[in-house]
Amino acid sequence: RTRYTGLIDRYRSWLPIHPDTPAVSLGEGNTPLIQAVNLPRHLGHDVELYFKFEGLNPTGSFKDRGMTMAITKAAEEGAKAVICASTGNTSAAAAAYAARAGMKAFVLIPEGKIALGKLSQAMMHGAVVLQIRGNFDEGMQLVQEVAQTAPVTIVNSVNPYRLQGQKTAAFEIVEELGEAPDYHALPVGNAGNITAHWMGYCEYSDARQHKADALTGACVFCKGTCPYGHAVTGKRPKMLGFQAAGSAPFIQGGFVDQPETVATAIRIGHPMSWEAAHVVEKESGGWFDAVTDTEILEAQKLLAQFEGVFCEPASAASVAGVIKQLRAGRIERGARIVCTLTGHGLKDPDTAIAQSTQPITVDASLAAVEAVILGR
Ligand code: F0G
Repeated sequence: RTRYTGLIDRYRSWLPIHPDTPAVSLGEGNTPLIQAVNLPRHLGHDVELYFKFEGLNPTGSFKDRGMTMAITKAAEEGAKAVICASTGNTSAAAAAYAARAGMKAFVLIPEGKIALGKLSQAMMHGAVVLQIRGNFDEGMQLVQEVAQTAPVTIVNSVNPYRLQGQKTAAFEIVEELGEAPDYHALPVGNAGNITAHWMGYCEYSDARQHKADALTGACVFCKGTCPYGHAVTGKRPKMLGFQAAGSAPFIQGGFVDQPETVATAIRIGHPMSWEAAHVVEKESGGWFDAVTDTEILEAQKLLAQFEGVFCEPASAASVAGVIKQLRAGRIERGARIVCTLTGHGLKDPDTAIAQSTQPITVDASLAAVEAVILGR
């Protein structure tokens, strides 16, 4: 039994990387797929619901899957510095993995519109943090312009290695469930992650379909020692993408110039993977929808209070979206659904505290504590 050393080592043959290139890794990936035990009943819907908790990656979001690849490849190519625009999570991951690789990181974030935990991460890992008086889309534009002349490698999802790393989440889900789920729901900003997941499902189901040799029945891919067995079908899920109503270019059918939402991670109006996302929607037979900030915060709270899972607001958009589809009868009874929870709730303590029951301040006396417990 070998030690788990991150997703590059685990899936190296599926990734565009040399067999000898050392991975810049913090042990990312291998996140838990948590089955909902209370929520379906509470909501009155008979479905098999799972949460892929990507908030349990090393820097607290799915970005680590992409960043281990982007930084490993940047190191392989001799880069000394990386740059990204970010609503927070990408900057946290870039800062951490760059630190690990001994590179400099420059991160552009929208001033005042990033969650506190994410800002603290970028600062603590020693990135040069540029707060711009503008939004993510403007930051992204600036990054693409400056990288044409300055010696910096872009590690946003326009860097193709990012999506390569992120596709491994789909591999893990298929391995764990034995086949792809019926539906896979994700929050959508730039639509890089939903695109990466679809790539992962397609590659894995293709490879698996081709595994059984027509003559011998042995696995072609694994040379007869297939660890998965051949029972696995080439099934793929319908991909569901959910945007915040105030930042929903995919639902409005065009770019949004002044995106707004409490889910600052997906406060994006000019998504980078515009065409790719439409391909995913069409090929998978899935669809996009918008959820309001109220629905997002309600879903975040439901998850925390009925399942014990604390994700950040943007992540809860996937669950809010699924609830909306269930209520509208667009997802059938008995369906198996995976929601990706993209980031940890601790990323955004301000939003959590603002919508929670406030602590009760009492004297440090037995009587005072007892009074609260006994409801006096
Ligand atoms: N959820 C979280 C927590 C995110 O941080 C992001 C994107 C998304 C969902 C959307 O993913 O863009 O691939 O569709 N955050 C980026 C960032 C923009 O800078 O951290 P997407």
